[in-house]
This record gives sequence, structure tokens and C-alpha cells, in this order.
Amino acid sequence: MSSTAAPLPGLTLGSLHVDTPVVLAPMAGITNAAYRRLCAEQGAGLYVCEMITSRGLVEGDQHTKDMLVFDDLETIRSVQLYGSDPVYVGKAAEILCAEYGVAHIDLNFGCPVPKVTRKGGGGALPWKRGLLAEILEAAVAAATPYDVPVTMKTRKGIDDDHLTYLDAGRIAQEAGCAAIALHGRTVAQAYSGAADWDAIAALVDHVDIPVLGNGDIWEAADAVRMVEETGAAGVVVGRGCLGRPWLFRDLAAAFAGERVATLPRLGEVTAMMRRHAELLCHHLGEERGCKEFRKHVTWYLKGFAAGGEMRRSLGLVDSLAALDRLLADLDPDEPFPVRELGAPRGRQGSPRDRVALPEGWLDDADGSGCHVQEDADETTGG
Ligand SMILES: Cc1cc2nc3c(=O)[nH]c(=O)nc-3n(C[C@H](O)[C@H](O)[C@H](O)COP(=O)(O)O)c2cc1C
Repeated sequence: MSSTAAPLPGLTLGSLHVDTPVVLAPMAGITNAAYRRLCAEQGAGLYVCEMITSRGLVEGDQHTKDMLVFDDLETIRSVQLYGSDPVYVGKAAEILCAEYGVAHIDLNFGCPVPKVTRKGGGGALPWKRGLLAEILEAAVAAATPYDVPVTMKTRKGIDDDHLTYLDAGRIAQEAGCAAIALHGRTVAQAYSGAADWDAIAALVDHVDIPVLGNGDIWEAADAVRMVEETGAAGVVVGRGCLGRPWLFRDLAAAFAGERVATLPRLGEVTAMMRRHAELLCHHLGEERGCKEFRKHVTWYLKGFAAGGEMRRSLGLVDSLAALDRLLADLDPDEPFPVRELGAPRGRQGSPRDRVALPEGWLDDADGSGCHVQEDADETTGG
């Protein structure tokens, strides 16, 4: 499928420019060096690392260091940082710039996981406007001497009665952030319902810095539509690319003015699976690489005829040789299941009745100097 439309410009974040206004959403447990490389092989974009914690980085935590691995071909190192303490965040930003040569730092203020919001972190934190400003200012102050742009990623708010995104946009702009990314859901919604693109448009109207729109982009055409409908400077794509790295090919084409929907036959999908597993094994060793690969199997095969026994075996794969044997049994000519186009994938879940928050959290909307406990081993994220 292909037709032509007017080309749109790339994405500029401070000193950084990428040719396509497309950002791979940071996804814990997914967007490691192997996955970023796999996606980058498909098309231009900004490919953000899994979230790491400021405390973990500052305290030299081994797990954190293990996550800060980049592929040799990764020319733009982009890292998402989690933090609720301005001092740790500032130090972590300094380390990322000075020791890891990063070109972009994104700060995560959208995590809906109760374990995180219960302490006032993640998506709960922007309620404390003063504290949010302190954190962003600390990161910008540390990154500016290195000319590294800082962005923030957030949700609409805690729930419909406690929206924070417009204030967060203003605060991010005043703090010197290069952009703000908005996932058009509240923390209470988690991943349920539909992303509110009107909120993205409202944020675009509210701030002068670039806004990156996020939520429910399943196809390249959705991304173009989001930009056209909201005025966003670019898009952040998460679940839509699970088991479909070629979506980045379609996205790059779409923003170059070409409408392309890649419909790979099963043979091309298995080649992509093999490439993904190979990259994971390259970065993590064969045993861990294969184990990590297992979680991607159902996404790659979604809608294809591969039977339960095959899926189960692939879900237990422990070597590249075993993977090759199994993939060889799949019919390479099976056409792409087009009914999957535009369909949600990945986690969806249900809304929460109540967001877990610290006692009295909503009573004060400033929170300057307030202490929010941050664990070094926080690994959830979005
Ligand atoms: C498995 C998974 C892990 C995620 N981890 C993070 C994370 O570490 N940091 C973050 O900011 N968002 C995280 N998110 C949220 C995504 O970045 C994104 O905001 C969300 O999925 C909505 O975009 P989508 O509709 O394109 O998926 C995660 C989402 C998923 C599905």
C-alpha cells in the first residue's frame, strides 16, 4: 500500500536533531540495546534506553550499570532517568553526560505502578509542582554544560480530578527542558481506555517548547494523524512496535511523505525474530539472551496460525540453534494477518478505583524540598 503526502520535518531537541520525529517509548524490560538496534535498523528515530534510577546510578548499583549498555552502532545515546530527589537526579545527569556520553536525557514522571506512586514517585510526583521544578532544574543544570537536552515524560495527571500536565508543561519550559512528552492517560487509567489526544493538543497550545504526543499509535498513519490533529512536534511509540520493529520503517516513510504499511509474510517475521534473538544473545550472552527473547514470541506471532505447541516451545527456547529448528517449521509464505492492523497490543488492563498515594499527598500541591523515597532498584517504569 503506498501513496504520497507532504513531507514533515524531523525532530529538534535542543542541540539534537533526528531526521524522523519519532521516539521509541522507553519500556522497562523491552527497550534494551538489542531492541533499540533492531528498531534503528528499520528507520531513523530517537531510541530511548530502558529507565534507570538516579540513585542506582549515583550509588554504582551493578544492575543499573548493566542496563546502561549501548550498541556499537548507537550514535545517539538517549537515556531515561527516574528520580524523585533533585540532588540524586542532578548527580545522575552529570554522570550520564560525563561518563556515558549521552546525547539526551528523559525524566520519567508517568509511572502508574502502586509501589512507586505510594511513595509519591512516578505519575504522582508532578502534583508537587515545586518539587517537580527542583528536579527538572537540577537535571538541566547538570546537562547544560554538556549541551545535552533534557526532556520530561508524563501523564495527564493522577486522575481526572487531579490533572497536572498543563502545570508540568509550564514548569518544564521554565526549567529549561527541551521538550515534554505526554501520554494521554491519567495514572488511574493505567493502560485502559483510549489515550486522550485532545489533552496533547491542549498542551501544545499551553507551552512554547515542543510537545511529543504519546498513546495508542498502532500504525504509521496514526502517528501522522496525531501530529496533524494535535500540533505535536513528534510522537512517542510504545506498545505498537512490540513484535513489529518494522513499524519504524513505516513511520520513517510516513513522515517522509510516503504512506507505507509493511505487511511481512511469516518468513520475514521469523527472520526478524532471529535477528532480535541474535542481538539479545550478542549483548547478554546466549542463555540470558534467549530467555529475554521468550517474552517477545507471542507479539511476533500475534494473528499468525502458529499452533499452541509451537508457541509453547518457542516460549521455552534456550539456544539460537533450537530457535532456528523451531522457526524452520513455520510456513514462510503465510501472509500477514491484516486484521491485526490497528489493533491494540501489549498491556491494557483496567482502570484503578483509587491511586495509591502517600498519606495527605493531595493536600499540598507544591512540595518544594519534600522528600520522596526513591529505591535504587526501581525497575518498573511506565
Ligand atoms: C512493558 C512496558 C514498560 C514501560 N516502561 C516504561 C518506562 O520505563 N518509562 C516510561 O516512561 N514509560 C514506560 N512505559 C510506558 C510507555 O513508554 C508509553 O508511555 C505507554 O505505553 C503509552 O504509549 P503506547 O500507547 O504507544 O504504548 C512502559 C510501557 C510498557 C507497555
